[in-house]
Amino acid sequence: MALLSAATVVVVGLAACRPVPPGSTLRGLADARDGRVVGTSVEPAQFDRTADADLIAAQFSSVTPENAMKWVSVHPGPSTWDFAAADRIVEFAEAHGQRVRGHTLVWHRQNPAWLTGGTFTRDELIAVLHDHIATLVGRYRGRIAQWDVVNEAIADDGTLRDNLWLRGIGPDYIRLAFEFAHEADPDAALFINDYLIERGGAKAATLLWIVASLRSAGVPIDGVGYQTHALVPALMPTPEQFADEMRRFASRGLLVEITEMDVALHLPSDPAIDPQRQADAYGSSVMACLAVRECTGITVWNYSDAESWIPGEFPGFGEASIFDAALAPKPAFERMRQILWWDLRAR
Ligand code: G3I
Repeated sequence: MALLSAATVVVVGLAACRPVPPGSTLRGLADARDGRVVGTSVEPAQFDRTADADLIAAQFSSVTPENAMKWVSVHPGPSTWDFAAADRIVEFAEAHGQRVRGHTLVWHRQNPAWLTGGTFTRDELIAVLHDHIATLVGRYRGRIAQWDVVNEAIADDGTLRDNLWLRGIGPDYIRLAFEFAHEADPDAALFINDYLIERGGAKAATLLWIVASLRSAGVPIDGVGYQTHALVPALMPTPEQFADEMRRFASRGLLVEITEMDVALHLPSDPAIDPQRQADAYGSSVMACLAVRECTGITVWNYSDAESWIPGEFPGFGEASIFDAALAPKPAFERMRQILWWDLRAR
């Protein structure tokens, strides 16, 4: 971020004056603030490494399967299901008092070949969608608190994204997905999730129109997920911009949550500047969430630099997480704790 707002400077300054009690965790500090959660994406293989499993259990009160509940993982054949990885994540969460965010029921990526290459009439594709959602959401009924029902439905220019669901069913696929999810678990909070919506613009405008239309039609949609992937720290909005944006949706009765936060650095990073800039960016999101009553929490996407998806998809960028590759806490982790702690003290 090029310029920190005055409020940011004041908050960070005060936080620095009052050290966080040693040993206090992200999950503990956030829970004390009206039950907010701090989560991370996870893969089951991480539970096999003691240090990783201990860190995930200690610091986070929510987990999101990074890949285990996507179509290609869980529904590899038309009538073939593989719940092994998803089950492990739900069981880990239950053993450690963590909430689960289900991710994701409708997306244009990570779909199996039988789905992307299949030929379906509209009614057949609706039946496929219904079967998938009824089976997956139904399996974890009462155990998964939130679902990302529809993910990344809007293209970067603000039009509806061209995907197999839009082509095969039409725009109604969004409504149907929410109705099917609600039918399978009436108590789960149902989210639409997207990126590049954190400071308004074309995508956020379309999203607002979609959710307003769905709600006025009585469709069971409960919240908006802000993925909050920043390829460099300067792309993160200020806390004020972000909070104002979340309020536009919260004022329509929606929950909001930061669902996939990470802040990548251009490599090689500059140790004199980049860790602090990254900490500012993570801190901005924490401040924004705390400023909006309807913001239920913050999930980071990949807790450590060793696990991050960024270098694979954006060569030349990385070090995006709040713990380094050896699981040592980075300034971004400390900043998140400081802001949560300061906020509690200030109330
Ligand atoms: O599972 C296969 C494995 O069998 C194969 O040998 C290997 C070879 O490349 O690929 C493995 O699949 C990879 C998968 O992650 C599991 O590791 C895919 O190639 C890889 O593309 C996939 O990347 C995931 C990405 O979504 C795909 O779009 C990332 O892990 C995951 O972090 C990322 O998550 C998305 C969210 O779901 C939605 N929002 C954006 C976010 C970042 O792209």
